Amino acid sequence: MKLSWNILFFAILEVINSTKTGLKWVRVNVPQFRVPGETAQLQCEFDLGNDTLYSVKWYKDHEEFYRYLPKTRPQSTSYRVEGVQVDMQKSSSKKVVLHSVNWKTSGIYKCEVSAEAPSFSSAQSEAKMEIVSLPEEDPIITGVKDEYSIGDEINLNCTSGKSRPASMLHWYINEQQIQKPEALIQYPIEHHTKGLVTTTLGLKVTLNSRHFLGGSMRVKCVASLMPTLFGEDRESEVQSLPIMRDTREALLLVKSASTCHISSVLVFILTFLNVLFYHKILNVNIFM
Ligand SMILES: *[C@@H]1O[C@H](CO)[C@@H](O)[C@H](O)[C@H]1NC(C)=O
Ligand SMILES: *[C@@H]1O[C@H](CO)[C@@H](O)[C@H](O)[C@H]1NC(C)=O
Repeated sequence: MKLSWNILFFAILEVINSTKTGLKWVRVNVPQFRVPGETAQLQCEFDLGNDTLYSVKWYKDHEEFYRYLPKTRPQSTSYRVEGVQVDMQKSSSKKVVLHSVNWKTSGIYKCEVSAEAPSFSSAQSEAKMEIVSLPEEDPIITGVKDEYSIGDEINLNCTSGKSRPASMLHWYINEQQIQKPEALIQYPIEHHTKGLVTTTLGLKVTLNSRHFLGGSMRVKCVASLMPTLFGEDRESEVQSLPIMRDTREALLLVKSASTCHISSVLVFILTFLNVLFYHKILNVNIFM
């Protein structure tokens, strides 16, 4: 019985859809991430079918900031909303340009399209934009001793560059990520000016011979910035850009002398890697 009702329901829906010739869909195209000071172009695409456009309205977190009505003069109006500065010259029915975004620009942007009489139909779509600040500095490894021997405790700190939101840090020994909670020490986030933060993650491991593959050990700290992505449960369009990921790493190579197990030679190599913007390698060798 329940099944047949469902079939009937879908059959009715089909009839409605096939006779609907007016406003079909609305889709927003909003940059997922922006850096303070940049401009942001928000697009609103729609298919009116046989309908005539009455209005396009833009909202940030449910507050209207821009309206386009083709039959009124002037056609477009903007409203004061914190963090939103519309470039009226560059904005129209299908796009809105915001200049000089700032931290308050982060939010959910919704475009609502309405048709004229007789259909009066309307549809909307929304997407999130986050303002982020990428770190200018690479992560720093501190607490490095001149010499390490098997049985010694390696006790290091890795501190991220200043970013917003906070960078995530991961330690690797010989390309294997350290996940044991007892080996990792999470220090509190440090706050700096302009809302920027640094994070520090400690590494505490007792060195054994298994760590020295071919007489050396590579210790690496990777910092990455991955702003929280839009929840998948929301019915919205998220711009299909490749996910921005800013990854930087610092690499430490600990070398043990193969002939002598007690004293080790330390080679200190720093590798800076930024997947998004550049790839730079700097080698610093310290021979004891
Ligand atoms: C929609 O428009 C097309 C082309 O303008 C027309 O052929 C069609 O009959 C229209 N449909 C309705 C239901 O008005
Ligand atoms: C790591 O950083 C914490 C917090 O700043 C500090 O208390 C600790 O002494 C540091 N450890 C090393 C090995 O540098």
